[in-house]
Amino acid sequence: MSIAVYPGSFDPITNGHLDIIKRASKIFSKVIVAVLINRDKKGFFSIEERKELIEEAIRGLDNVEVVSFNGLLVDFMKEKEARIIIKGLRNSTDFEYEHQMALMNKKLNENVETLHMSTNPEYSYISSSAIRQIVSFGGEIKEFVPVNVEVAIKNKMKN
Ligand code: PNS
Repeated sequence: MSIAVYPGSFDPITNGHLDIIKRASKIFSKVIVAVLINRDKKGFFSIEERKELIEEAIRGLDNVEVVSFNGLLVDFMKEKEARIIIKGLRNSTDFEYEHQMALMNKKLNENVETLHMSTNPEYSYISSSAIRQIVSFGGEIKEFVPVNVEVAIKNKMKN
């Protein structure tokens, strides 16, 4: 069975992330979306909220599972008996960062392979941080995130 892990902060999941998950789910027998628990950084959404939002957004993709993890990604990969990391690439800035990360993960565990998937150009300018910034200034994010995320953001802003 080919298991791919798609790690990230997903604060929140965007249409760009969702596109990568859907494409990966057609290639691998199982895709694990791994949400990083970062204790040093208070997110916009909690880890549980992020997981729930991803789970709702991927409904119908039966070979995709969502879990949270802390510590090193390579240790998580070992625990899940997975060898493949999927990362989306939007542009050359992503490439620089992701390439370095892929080399470091390879150094930490030579059995792990990082596969980079070019983002659909339609989503190449979308990032979770841009979404958070637009929201903080009262802008519209409908086009950039799944519907359930848009609703959850609006509810959070109301409260
Ligand atoms: O969505 P992000 O914030 O770009 O995701 C980054 C993530 C979670 C993929 C990366 O920070 C990560 O793998 N963190 C776990 C710690 C680790 O293994 N780092 C790599 C060695 S430096």
